[in-house]
Amino acid sequence: MPLITWNDELSVKVKEIDDQHKKLIGLVNNLHDAMKGGQGKQVLESTLQELASYTVYHFQTEEKYMQKFNYPGYLAHKMKHDAFVKKVSDFQKEYHTGRLGLSLDLMNFLKEWVTTHIMDTDHQYSETFIKGGLR
Ligand SMILES: [Fe+2]
Ligand SMILES: [Fe+2]
Repeated sequence: MPLITWNDELSVKVKEIDDQHKKLIGLVNNLHDAMKGGQGKQVLESTLQELASYTVYHFQTEEKYMQKFNYPGYLAHKMKHDAFVKKVSDFQKEYHTGRLGLSLDLMNFLKEWVTTHIMDTDHQYSETFIKGGLR
């Protein structure tokens, strides 16, 4: 069973963003599968890297639209993105040096962060994006 399952409550009613969220959830699930399947460090590191890179790409997409549509919550939203990117990058370093392992705690943190961020923070820009013409 995947760690996170997409459901319509997660939708921000903009297809491009929903598709990116689905991909992001898929990458968290891949990491979870790789961890549970007892994959080696190399596979886990590359899976983690894929997730980290895609996260940055996705956040840039949202930030581009927030700026384009003068979304008032842009700065507060960007700060949440930046904090998450730093956290994942710190974790990657610690994992690489062997100071920290991949754990269910980490997976649950990722699950909680991603779903809460989409349901709460991302949903708040929905109206602005739709008014701006995104579908
Ligand atoms: Fe998002
Ligand atoms: Fe976001």
